[in-house]
Amino acid sequence: MPLTHTRELFAKALKGKYAIGAFNVNNMELLQAIVEACEEEKAPVMLQISKGARQYANPVYLKKLIEAAVSLSNIPIAVHLDHGDSFELCKECIDEGFTSVMIDGSHLPGEENVAVCKKVVEYAHKHDCVVEGELGMLVGAQHDEGEEGGGYSKGGVYTHPDEAVEFVKATGVDSLAVAIGNSHGAYKFKGDQHLNLDRLKAIKKALMEAGLGDYPLVLHGASSVPEDLVQEINKYGGKLGDDTAGVPEADIEVARRVGCTKVNIDTDLRLAMTAAVRKAMWESPKEFDPRKYLAPARNRVKELVRHKVRNVLCSAGHAFD
Ligand code: G3H
Ligand code: 13P
Ligand code: ZN
Repeated sequence: MPLTHTRELFAKALKGKYAIGAFNVNNMELLQAIVEACEEEKAPVMLQISKGARQYANPVYLKKLIEAAVSLSNIPIAVHLDHGDSFELCKECIDEGFTSVMIDGSHLPGEENVAVCKKVVEYAHKHDCVVEGELGMLVGAQHDEGEEGGGYSKGGVYTHPDEAVEFVKATGVDSLAVAIGNSHGAYKFKGDQHLNLDRLKAIKKALMEAGLGDYPLVLHGASSVPEDLVQEINKYGGKLGDDTAGVPEADIEVARRVGCTKVNIDTDLRLAMTAAVRKAMWESPKEFDPRKYLAPARNRVKELVRHKVRNVLCSAGHAFD
């Protein structure tokens, strides 16, 4: 089966009220784990490649590995550039046949973010590629001064609903990554902080009321940092801090129901792989065949992805809708 277009995955996910898992790929074992898990769960999936992944594995290797995975599987698979940081990188990926790219200009001043997104959209749309933009900053949970008065302050780190509408209209991006207290990595929250799901609802509502329809939103930083994986890593010699924290899976479920059509997960895959490698090495210190620790690592990632698509994203069973 050839690649499936991101546009088609989004349309079906919006209709079916489930989220597409966008899982980061850096090597063969991660790719096999993700695709085999989704195949077994009959879940459509997005494979996402970061700039760092391209530097680590080489774009040609990644492309050929993905071609192999696609040819061996039956499920719909889209390929996406994660956090593209320049027009040039996005163009490279569009030219390589990615079905979508993210242009992340969220660190730039507002007008520059708009300008670079517009430039990518113009090129991407001519080449049948879908574009994700980002507005706001993924720096974790913060206090929003405006919130108590029933409004939202502009210029903060969270995505402002009205600014989201202006941004989507000005740039023409096809999906929007929002900042609602989310962040990357294994240390997301302190104390009782969590995602601001009311803000997410307000963004979705504003886009709908502005005539943009059931607009696809993207949740970055969606790893839940499972406690058992953290404990296992530390049991077998790791030294993760005792302040690891992820997004509760119940929050992801609400985000999915509110309209996060694409949910990005990387850290949890890294934790699963690391836990299994550490355990295998600890238990068999005389072993030096990489397959003896990479095979359990691949299995552990697969188990995790099966759980996500079945119990959290609810994309399982939707591959052939
Ligand atoms: O959002 C970041 C992703 O987890 C990719 O991370 O840039 O280390 O490949 P990376
Ligand atoms: P996590 O670090 O929570 O896995 O987020 C991944 C991500 O957003 C990739 O773009
Ligand atoms: Zn991200």
